[in-house]
Amino acid sequence: MSAATGKKAVLQLDGKEIELPIYSGTLGPDVIDVKDVLASGHFTFDPGFMATAACESKITFIDGDKGVLLHRGYPIDQLATQADYLETCYLLLNGELPNAEQKAEFDAKVRNHTMVHDQVSRFFNGFRRDAHPMAIMVGVVGALSAFYHNGLDIEDINHREITAIRLIAKIPTLAAWSYKYTVGQPFIYPRNDLGYAENFLHMMFATPADRDYKVNPILAKAMDRIFTLHADHEQNASTSTVRLAGSTGANPYACISSGISALWGPAHGGANEAVLKMLDEIGSVENVAEFMEKVKRKEVKLMGFGHRVYKNFDPRAKVMKQTCDEVLEALGINDPQLALAMELEKIALNDPYFVERKLYPNVDFYSGIILKAIGIPVEMFTVIFALARTVGWISHWLEMHASPYKIGRPRQLYTGETQRDIKR
Ligand code: CMC
Repeated sequence: MSAATGKKAVLQLDGKEIELPIYSGTLGPDVIDVKDVLASGHFTFDPGFMATAACESKITFIDGDKGVLLHRGYPIDQLATQADYLETCYLLLNGELPNAEQKAEFDAKVRNHTMVHDQVSRFFNGFRRDAHPMAIMVGVVGALSAFYHNGLDIEDINHREITAIRLIAKIPTLAAWSYKYTVGQPFIYPRNDLGYAENFLHMMFATPADRDYKVNPILAKAMDRIFTLHADHEQNASTSTVRLAGSTGANPYACISSGISALWGPAHGGANEAVLKMLDEIGSVENVAEFMEKVKRKEVKLMGFGHRVYKNFDPRAKVMKQTCDEVLEALGINDPQLALAMELEKIALNDPYFVERKLYPNVDFYSGIILKAIGIPVEMFTVIFALARTVGWISHWLEMHASPYKIGRPRQLYTGETQRDIKR
């Protein structure tokens, strides 16, 4: 629980004073509790929630000015380089990193739930062959709601916990199948002798014809790191969507499906796909200067740049860039798009237009380049983000349900017609 600081903000309104309590968290700015404004007959107004803390949370802390991202107190660069993705999942869900025994037990639990009910595979057939894999994900993850009638009591902690494991375990299977379906290849079933990221890549790229297909361990490690870097990010648009949907008591599969929908947009998770499309459009280094002029005229956005919270650098982007260099070097790839990306980065970091607006490369600027090197098709980029973020969404959903909460219900500044009568 947050601590009352004893400090108060005073709001003067219609000749009266309203005292608003101020609370402190363990890190970050204090917050002003504005609930008492309601009694004065006013609402507060904050479109885009620029200055609104909608909940208390112990999971993730971000200091956008300093470029800090902590999960349960641990810096993201330490987690990305010293822990694996499933350890990060355990941390987000339980608050502590697992010891060896807890890790083995958690990994085994996740492995035990990687299969999906065979009837789930039939949902895929309802989609057009050229469906975007994110469209498939929104549908099939929501469809899981229909398969666990005995596990949907959100008041029951055992139901909530098994749902978290099911989602983390099954999402790679559904993600890989959303790709297989669109390329017309048979689904590859999960293999529980493989690691989490390795199993995902196996389901993506193995075929029945290539029985000896082996995942390159360098790529599995890079994939695992990409998952870790995307695991959670505080109260962003998709996580807030999951919390809002969850606050109605909606079942967790439906809530995660709503998170996937919110993530899809190009201003959020869809940016990694948009970066590669942008690089394609620019074509070559000679066209960069002209493209930048278009950005400055606000005709297009520089995708993979800017962030609502990070105004100096995105700490995920730092580790991602390092991973990007490692993967390209290990694979001996000399990608001309990388040269293009580096030219964009160089100009943006030095041009006053971008410097003044504090526009720095974000995590998605580099992730697309690594994913491309791994052989992941562009349409799957946002699906991979969704796969990795599922643990963040479910951790926030669990946190919300572990203490009292109210249905999320924002108010509005109404600017429409006043009451009038129908005249015919
Ligand atoms: N390219 C060009 N100009 C930009 C960009 C950009 N990517 N982002 C912001 N600006 C400009 C914007 O036009 C505005 O200029 P002015 O002050 O002259 O009006 C100024 O910078 C402030 O922008 P804003 O729109 O108020 O910033 P925001 O905090 O509302 O938006 C953002 C944040 C991430 C939506 C935005 O920066 C953006 O659309 N970036 C591109 C998409 C992207 O890469 N998204 C991935 C975010 S990281 C992954 C994730 O967490 O989902």
